[in-house]
Amino acid sequence: MAFEFSAEGKKAFENILTRYPDKESALLPTLHLAQKEFGSFTVDRMDAIAGLLGLPHVRVYRGVSFYTMYQRQEVGKYLLQVCTNVSCSLLGAEKLVTYLGETLGIKVGETTADGLFTLIEVECLGACGNAPVMMVNDDYYEDLTIEKLDALLDQLRRNSE
Ligand code: FES
Repeated sequence: MAFEFSAEGKKAFENILTRYPDKESALLPTLHLAQKEFGSFTVDRMDAIAGLLGLPHVRVYRGVSFYTMYQRQEVGKYLLQVCTNVSCSLLGAEKLVTYLGETLGIKVGETTADGLFTLIEVECLGACGNAPVMMVNDDYYEDLTIEKLDALLDQLRRNSE
């Protein structure tokens, strides 16, 4: 098997299975758990999950490739997910993406050489009333400006020292 959940992960997986009527309905929470444990989905990891759930491999690949919260490549410590859907775009999301790319020296989809930041664009994060919005890992940052981004990047760098 390409991976094995940690002891805590195994307990969490068993708990997931008790909460759903069949293994197929447990796919998305299992993917969340796997992402938390392994950070990204290689083909081997997706195959292993298909085996655990007794699902055709294509169902796992489809789930992973459809949702932007599941990563198929290794990502940095901080995954910067900038919403570029309508409300955020109208309020300058593209400018923020450009600024982040220039400041960090990476393009969308890339990770900084120090492994700290990965920049991606995502669809609506459901916080349109406070656009523009970005998630960093599981946390929301709303009503963003260039100044707020600078302060946030500084804070994240300090947190990782
Ligand atoms: S359009 Fe960006 S959060 Fe909805």
